[in-house]
Amino acid sequence: MYRNIDRSTDVLSFPLISYPAGKTARDCPEKLAQVFDDEVHGAMIGDIVISMDHVFQQAEEFGHTAEREAAYLLVHGICHLMGYDHIEDAERKRMRMMEESVLCAAGVQRDHDVSDEKLLQLAREAMKNSYSPYSHFPVGAAILSVNGKIYTGCNIENASYGLTRCAEQVAVCKAVSEGERRFSVIAIAANRTAWPCGACRQILNEFAPDIRVLVTWDDHVEEANLRDLLPYGFGPSDLQV
Ligand code: THU
Repeated sequence: MYRNIDRSTDVLSFPLISYPAGKTARDCPEKLAQVFDDEVHGAMIGDIVISMDHVFQQAEEFGHTAEREAAYLLVHGICHLMGYDHIEDAERKRMRMMEESVLCAAGVQRDHDVSDEKLLQLAREAMKNSYSPYSHFPVGAAILSVNGKIYTGCNIENASYGLTRCAEQVAVCKAVSEGERRFSVIAIAANRTAWPCGACRQILNEFAPDIRVLVTWDDHVEEANLRDLLPYGFGPSDLQV
């Protein structure tokens, strides 16, 4: 009845705040401040209604759990309450990225067909292209975007040593230049232990502060979360007014 469509739907959002065209909650802190309730220490930004019948049906259809489907619909609804939409192509892309990023941060990852092993293997392959005549320390990296795409990189050294680019940075730059902004996992391969250097941690932090970091050398594989590799990190949110 609300949308004047004669069929049931999976999720409906009823926002209490309207944002200017193209803007989301993060662009309008004053709007949120107006509805901020000190008692509950939160802001009422609207209601979301989710049809559990659809949750179960769609979970089966997409071949994932009802939890994942419910989480997705909830995040989708919250994004609408925060001013995201999916009518135009560009805004749909932005909304999808935010949804994936939230789901990823909440530990509800999309079931991309990309296994850790595949990513590790691609990092090992990328390492073969390393240009490292000075250090003789080849490194390869493969980063997975939340859209399920993989970008690889290798270290590229320079006769002016300081201009060397690390494998992780090359992978991130390739991905971001193709329009990616959110990542869930990066695999790094070297001939010895090679946790990402400080500069690479900072560069990863810009786009994926809680990315899973896999490192491999010989037959070893180790994993850490960037949050643990870069505690008290400085990132985009520190510059937001
Ligand atoms: N290197 C990387 O590619 N990633 C890192 O995180 C650490 C260092 C490369 C840069 C240089 O070509 C070589 O390893 C030795 O420092």
